[in-house]
Amino acid sequence: MIWYPYCQMKTAEPPIKISHAKGVHLYTETGNDLIDSISSWWCVIHGYNNSELNNAITQQVNNFSHVMLGGLTHDPVQKLSAKLSEWLPEDLDYCFFSDSGSVAVEVALKMALQFNTNRNSTRNKILALEHAYHGDTFKTMEVGDDNDYHFAFGKEKDNIIHIPTTVHALEKAFADFGEQLTCFIVEPLLQGAGGMRMYDVAFLKRARRLCDEYDVLFIFDEVATGFGRTGNRFVADLVQPDIIVLGKALTGGYIGHAVTVANKRVWDGFYDDEPTHALMHGPTFMGNALACCVALKSIELFERNNYLEKIKKISEILKRETENFADPRIKEIRIIGACLCIEVFDKSTLNGFKQFAYDNGVFSRPFLNCMYTMPPYIIDDEDLVKITDTMKAWFLR
Ligand SMILES: Cc1ncc(COP(=O)(O)O)c(C=O)c1O
Repeated sequence: MIWYPYCQMKTAEPPIKISHAKGVHLYTETGNDLIDSISSWWCVIHGYNNSELNNAITQQVNNFSHVMLGGLTHDPVQKLSAKLSEWLPEDLDYCFFSDSGSVAVEVALKMALQFNTNRNSTRNKILALEHAYHGDTFKTMEVGDDNDYHFAFGKEKDNIIHIPTTVHALEKAFADFGEQLTCFIVEPLLQGAGGMRMYDVAFLKRARRLCDEYDVLFIFDEVATGFGRTGNRFVADLVQPDIIVLGKALTGGYIGHAVTVANKRVWDGFYDDEPTHALMHGPTFMGNALACCVALKSIELFERNNYLEKIKKISEILKRETENFADPRIKEIRIIGACLCIEVFDKSTLNGFKQFAYDNGVFSRPFLNCMYTMPPYIIDDEDLVKITDTMKAWFLR
């Protein structure tokens, strides 16, 4: 029996069985053709079955698929870390690989906490955002702000402070707790699983200054926002964090892999003769050679095919297609980069939309009060408009 994610197995609808996929299209076992409007949880940025990505993996398979990084190393992981160091802004150069976004966020938090114990600091609080989502492992659930996870912690999460994305709340949190904070972790500009909430870069700029003033590490969880989703390569191109976490699109959605990249200051906090100052972490599959090869090719495609232009065009089409669209059940329509969210007042408004989309040749998966699309960047205009038409048609029935 397969235990499927985020559902009550007793009442869940059976999942749609996919037999093959190409480009932005998923083909079902029963012969249906569906446009994937959400890039398989936002990671398949080049679409499915891309011949160059396929080749990158198959070439490496014939060499070796995996060797551990404990005491061993290899070309693909060295090339990927060199590429990321060169590609990421400023001195975000020190790459710790892991197998999923959640684990990579765990590593970022562990880095921040140990950075402080290594320098004999007693700081013990973490600042995070209301509606934050950083993964499903324990520490990520703790910094997250999702009622579904509160069973694990009771009501209180003693050392975690959650604030809304207003400059006022930010300044108050630093004034009240600044001296006790180890780090401030955010999904920058776009909070995904917490409800596709978008906020202004001014908040991040102010936060950067406060982190400097109070000596607090700033962590960007760009597992969802990285690689173009907000219209920026990384939000870190606009405001620089001390630690950035990348996952999902890192491998073009081919293989689960993620990376926590620290700046020189964080690295230096661990780099000394004292063995207890080492970062004691080591996922079995960190730096997996197949994942590294496909990630390198994915970055090459991103650069060579000028994805930022593609994302800009997607954004323009999303705006054009939803511009004057309104319905009394809609609370807000918002867009950032290649992400459109239609938020409704009452979540029951979306009951049945998934089936409706399916019947119209679109795979969608609304959650909370959100109907949304985050398409693969290779989507053509016609398929993109089919997605927005389907979303609008739900309200026009
Ligand atoms: C911002 C953010 N961080 C972390 C994660 C967790 O990544 P993973 O599912 O690869 O563990 C997600 C997944 O949706 C995410 O959106």
